Amino acid sequence: SAIFAALSTTFALTLSGSAFAAQAPIIIKFSHVVADATPKGQGAIKFKEIAEKLLPGKVQVQIFPNSQLFGDAKEMEAVLLGDVQIIAPSLSKFDRYTKKVQLFDLPFLFDDMDAVDRFQHSADGRALLSSMTGKGIQGLAYWHNGMKQLSDSKDTLTRPDDIKGLKFRIQASDVLEAQFRQLGANPQKLAFSEVYQALQTGVVDGQENTWSNIYSQKFHEVQKTIANTNHGVIDYMVVTNAKWWKGLPDDVRTGLETAMAQATDHANKMAAELNERDRKRIIDANKARVQTLSKEDVAAWRKAMEPVWKKFETQISPELIQSALKSNT
Ligand code: LMR
Repeated sequence: SAIFAALSTTFALTLSGSAFAAQAPIIIKFSHVVADATPKGQGAIKFKEIAEKLLPGKVQVQIFPNSQLFGDAKEMEAVLLGDVQIIAPSLSKFDRYTKKVQLFDLPFLFDDMDAVDRFQHSADGRALLSSMTGKGIQGLAYWHNGMKQLSDSKDTLTRPDDIKGLKFRIQASDVLEAQFRQLGANPQKLAFSEVYQALQTGVVDGQENTWSNIYSQKFHEVQKTIANTNHGVIDYMVVTNAKWWKGLPDDVRTGLETAMAQATDHANKMAAELNERDRKRIIDANKARVQTLSKEDVAAWRKAMEPVWKKFETQISPELIQSALKSNT
């Protein structure tokens, strides 16, 4: 009977082995709010391509761009509920989950995208990826988009005074809210998918975004002036459900980590290129006027926005702000 037991164990193992081989792939839904032809859109496509190549038959990545499946308001809950597995919200959209990531919204914190990149690769930057695990969210990577430009429906957009009393759409961020209040403007939190219509109908006068988002959403067709302020950054944290991620078979998680690393390289390389391409397309389209600011103009914006830092210094932590500033050199 010992032999019989051994035989039946072997039989059971063989059965479960073949049952496993025939198993359906793990479906990984990746939801985001922007167009395919943007840095994030391209990163998601690259991730799918590499993940499915490295883990044939084991995973299937389904991408839902353009807020098709979930928009800004719902995507984080959808991850926590397991309705989607990966999202990549902008770093401005995490303040309900961690106050630290608000760091990235401080106006004029980073001199350029190289500084942003250096900080994200630093120990302090990397630590933020795990700052929401207590809330069930695991950060997998940072992806770049680019520096923000300011646009509105007026002919003049040169100095802070020009936007006094105007309404601006902002992402769901208290720092950005404070930034526009500081300038004497009226900020309004709106989901990304609603911005075009809000600009078109005059619900808001202006907004702030990267060249690639402005172009792919056609904001330049419903705005008069875009000033190249470079006053802040829109970058992303690719996040997943911490429990789901931990529960994946080891080989699958390892494969997905490799795919994520390669997709990150790709997205980050494309980011500068796509934003530059779209900046030119916006100029060529000749709808909104693209206005170059002088050094003095930019200094005036910087000075006007400066008080925002003080308001959030304690929440974010002065040490973290110092650490980020170090990446400017
Ligand atoms: C926005 O809401 O303006 C951006 O965060 C959209 C995005 O994901 O780039």
